[in-house]
Amino acid sequence: PTIRREDYKPFAWLVPEVSLQFELGLEATRVVSTLTVARNAKADPSPMIRLNGDGLEVVSVKVDGEPSNSWTMDGDDLLVTLPGDAHEITVATEIDPSANTQLMGLYASDGMLCTQCEAEGFRRITFFPDRPDVLSTYRVRMTGSAETFPVLLCNGNLEATGTNDDGTHWAEWHDPWPKPSYLFALVAGQLVANTDSFTTMNGREVTLNIYVREGDLGRTGHAMESLKRSMKWDEETFGREYDLDLFNIVAVSDFNMGAMENKGLNVFNTKYVLADEDTATDGDFDGVEGVIAHEYFHNWSGNRVTCRDWFQLSLKEGFTVLRDQLFSQDMGSEPVKRIEDVRVLRGAQFPEDSGPLAHPIRPDSYREISNFYTATVYNKGAEVIRMMRTMAGEEAFRKGTDLYFERHDGEAATCEDFVRAIEDGAGMDLQQFRLWYSQAGTPKVSVQLEHDGDTATLHLSQQVPATPGQPDKQPMPIPLKLALFDRESGRHSGEELVVLDKAEDTFTFGGFASKPVLSINRGFSAPVTIERDISGEELVFLAAQDDDPFARYEALQDLVVSHLKQAVEGELDDAARTEARNAIAGAFRAVLVDENLDDLMRGELLVLPSETYLAETMRIADPGRIHEERQALRAAIGIALEDELAAEYQTAASVPSDLSAEARGARKVKTQALLYLAAGNPERGRELAWEQYRNARNMTDRQGALMVLAGMSGIERTNALLDFYNRYKGNALVVDKWFALQASSMHPDVLEHVKALADHPQFTLRNPNRARSLYMAFAHNPHGFHAEDGEGYRLIADVILALDPINPQTAARFVPQLGRWRRIEPKRSAMMKAQLERIAEAPKLSRDTYEQVSRSLG
Ligand code: ARG
Ligand code: ZN
Repeated sequence: PTIRREDYKPFAWLVPEVSLQFELGLEATRVVSTLTVARNAKADPSPMIRLNGDGLEVVSVKVDGEPSNSWTMDGDDLLVTLPGDAHEITVATEIDPSANTQLMGLYASDGMLCTQCEAEGFRRITFFPDRPDVLSTYRVRMTGSAETFPVLLCNGNLEATGTNDDGTHWAEWHDPWPKPSYLFALVAGQLVANTDSFTTMNGREVTLNIYVREGDLGRTGHAMESLKRSMKWDEETFGREYDLDLFNIVAVSDFNMGAMENKGLNVFNTKYVLADEDTATDGDFDGVEGVIAHEYFHNWSGNRVTCRDWFQLSLKEGFTVLRDQLFSQDMGSEPVKRIEDVRVLRGAQFPEDSGPLAHPIRPDSYREISNFYTATVYNKGAEVIRMMRTMAGEEAFRKGTDLYFERHDGEAATCEDFVRAIEDGAGMDLQQFRLWYSQAGTPKVSVQLEHDGDTATLHLSQQVPATPGQPDKQPMPIPLKLALFDRESGRHSGEELVVLDKAEDTFTFGGFASKPVLSINRGFSAPVTIERDISGEELVFLAAQDDDPFARYEALQDLVVSHLKQAVEGELDDAARTEARNAIAGAFRAVLVDENLDDLMRGELLVLPSETYLAETMRIADPGRIHEERQALRAAIGIALEDELAAEYQTAASVPSDLSAEARGARKVKTQALLYLAAGNPERGRELAWEQYRNARNMTDRQGALMVLAGMSGIERTNALLDFYNRYKGNALVVDKWFALQASSMHPDVLEHVKALADHPQFTLRNPNRARSLYMAFAHNPHGFHAEDGEGYRLIADVILALDPINPQTAARFVPQLGRWRRIEPKRSAMMKAQLERIAEAPKLSRDTYEQVSRSLG
């Protein structure tokens, strides 16, 4: 059945209080839940209450303390008939956490018990109105073996503990803040804590714990520092203070997503908690900081103000992603973080927006909500709110968010509530802007600059492409930051913001004796694609001169993208190819020698556009040709700039190995330089990589070198892979890297390697990190996935079918890669489609996978 946004109705009952009793066991956990219910005066009355369940069996039902027969099952749900206006319902169930391979609800991971309830996992623990607009206060008593479960954790405050005569012990927790069931969490197991504290702006002393397995304690320092910085930043930037005396984080190794913001008890994938220099790359450190911040920020944007229904998911996710992006910008390099975020948007969200799974940031319908935890809802959602902030200005935007939190604290709100609060608080009209919530598809903006006399005239037009279910689109307000550069002086007279809110518009700028160079969508002020009429020389000019770091990056990317597009489409003869490569090498040389650039930014500018993004810029892509041309360009740059790259490499190699911005920048430049050098001169690359591998004093260097070696043939490849494995075989997160790096390799035999790795004793489909490390890495490696004979597609389809009965949520996440078939050249396209059809025919497909496959074929 399809759930529709327009069908929303408030729930007929309020559930002000919930009391839960758990008798914990890995194989059998008994749950008794007592709900205080009362009629909701704001809803249509109903003689019965629907309590959602998923795979649960009723042990007993009581109403007002008496055993009751006035209940029936409707599918998985329990319906209880209630005569009066207020009652107490008690339901007992029993579940087997060790059999829960979906990792939704209560499950066993590594000998401990933990939960994941968002979006609809609570109904796998006990019968409950499992929807985010039912808010309750929870009292939880958990009892279990003191040996197996020495640590007993839940949301809120610990109120009492005790031991029983039979060797079990118990803890009673109370969460004073009303919350929906998806924010419930429970953890029980053998854990140790890194404990610290934070004093809030109004003097509340908060105890902070990060719980991990004993051997992992030494790798929690960065997470703890990130947490304290997040708490401080949210006070300073958004005026948000923490609201309990305790904040717990638990790291678990089996987890479907990154982490979860359960009230007072965040549960994390170990990948986003554990980090030290020997085992985590600089990118991993940033990932920990960003996700710790993200989950902490949810305490206000998500928990104190939650979502009315799951169509409003972007209300909390888009806003919280924006908040974590702004935080990371403030903690590190603002322009570099911006470029990274845009790269993620283009790599993951643009393909979503231009394919069969396109949906607005506030979807209109779904079958399985887990399929809508997407880059569109999260990352485009963040871009949409960022545009409001850009148009309002920081100060006015803050007035809007203050009003939002004040107005809706304690409520389950909608995206519309958010927009209205920004309108009222910031004093702006967002009527037309609301289209960004309802229309899917990445708008295309065409740009033309004319010059006549002393006037520059800018012609802008926009087109929002048709997407499934949305054939006709209306023009949206598109805020574009721009600057006009004087060619002689290399300067501009100030950045301006224009808002294109019609299908076409014209803007004039006076005072230009000669035609200026246009820099547009500076800072990526709008999540659109720009088609600009600009010459190669003008791009080279901007790549070297633009004072907006993002625009500079963009000019360099455009230069490369337009060349590779022409090359792939066979539009270049040898002379034109050489000329374009020389221009690109020249622009990269300017980046390498620019004294004013810091290394983090320099490293960023050297990154070539990904094959996925290149494919996205073409209507029909030939992945094989894209791969060849991109590799050839990399080699050409490596040859043309060998001396400069080698010099940069040596300088960077002499910087000390620590976590300072300088050292991180040096490592970034070094990683890029090595990639170009190895492409241009494989023998030199092999030597450098092998030396870097052996001398590495941190994971960034070691992994960077191993990536290069893993793409080559020869004994160094075998030796390095073996050495790496033996060195780190006790560390699951690093073993994940070992799998991922082989699966994402450019090695000609990558497909055979992946097949062989599936039989490795350390490989299992049951652990999502491990399954993704091999197969998600492979599915996103165009060189392997798009193998000419279609074997890559078959392999991923097999994975989907094997994983679906174990963990449908994770299985469904592989479907979008095959779903790209309409945009791929005909031969491959047919093979991709055939694999989707094969999956569709499988008996007993999960709702998750079925929805994604049918939308992909539809
Ligand atoms: N709210 C979590 C976050 O944004 C994600 C949880 C998603 N869980 C799921 N089963 N789809 O960090
Ligand atoms: Zn989130």
